[in-house]
Amino acid sequence: MAGLARHDPFIEINIIKNPDEFFGRKDELRTIFTRLQGLQSTSIYGERKIGKSSLLYKVFCDIPEELGNEYKSAYIDLRDSDYHTVYYFLKNVLSEFKCDPEVILENNTYNKNLIAFSESIKELSTKYKPVLLIDEFDHIIKKPEEFNKDFLDTLRTLGNHGHIAYITASLYSLKELCIKSKLNSPFYSIFYELQLGELTRGEITDFLSAKRKDVNFNAEEIKLIKEIAGNNPLHLRIACYHIFANKGKKWNRSKLKGKIQNEINHFDDKEARRKKNIRDIGKKVTKYISKLVENYTGN
Ligand SMILES: Nc1ncnc2c1ncn2[C@@H]1O[C@H](COP(=O)(O)OP(=O)(O)O)[C@@H](O)[C@H]1O
Ligand SMILES: [Mg+2]
Repeated sequence: MAGLARHDPFIEINIIKNPDEFFGRKDELRTIFTRLQGLQSTSIYGERKIGKSSLLYKVFCDIPEELGNEYKSAYIDLRDSDYHTVYYFLKNVLSEFKCDPEVILENNTYNKNLIAFSESIKELSTKYKPVLLIDEFDHIIKKPEEFNKDFLDTLRTLGNHGHIAYITASLYSLKELCIKSKLNSPFYSIFYELQLGELTRGEITDFLSAKRKDVNFNAEEIKLIKEIAGNNPLHLRIACYHIFANKGKKWNRSKLKGKIQNEINHFDDKEARRKKNIRDIGKKVTKYISKLVENYTGN
């Protein structure tokens, strides 16, 4: 089938790692890098699939060029099983920074390992400016039994004393997460909170007019993409993906629009919630009717 073997630049719906496919976020990048110059932390938060991980990864990739070699950075994703417990978190973060991970011992008490971690980061900060980029930070706050107040206090103190900066990405604001959690930790207080929203119109235009091998959208296609995607980066990519895949086939605007909308709805929390509500109401009505019938026949 024609088109199947072509490279599709729009296929990625997860974190964007190819710098050529990352667009916009100039203001956010400027804010983050300005703060990093003074080793100040930033928490990026925003709805699912708005581009938090892609921005976090972009910062990680740009640190050497933007800030120079005196900065040493490590990027971790808390969904990775390497970071599911404090023991592995401390050990693997030290590994990522090329520090000796063997100072963290399984037989050590929780607090002894925190001290060992703290000492290693302080030692590292005598030679470099360490930056730890943590994706899916919600995972830590959701496990207060494992990642307790002492753990958060240790990270906070290191940040507060200028030994390290953190850039985190999470669904909810760190302040909200910390206050709502059982630990009620002031960890969030060393962060600037950056809420990530949709792309701007200009950023959308840059995305659509970027030079890509074998990709050329005509005016009608661009109109449909803009109409469906609005300013949402994921919706934009899904729309481009389908329109690119449709190249060489018959142009059926409404069919294509329906197909794209369906896939967008699949990722949309609001749409998923709406469908669930409808299902729940349906179940309640069925239950109510069967109760009525039961009562009626019982009488
Ligand atoms: N700056 C960007 N430039 C281009 N595409 C982006 C950008 N940010 C997000 N996207 C698109 O949105 C998708 C979701 O982004 P992601 O970073 O995984 O979001 P989040 O971490 O908020 O869930 C990406 O796969 C990509 O298609
Ligand atoms: Mg993400």
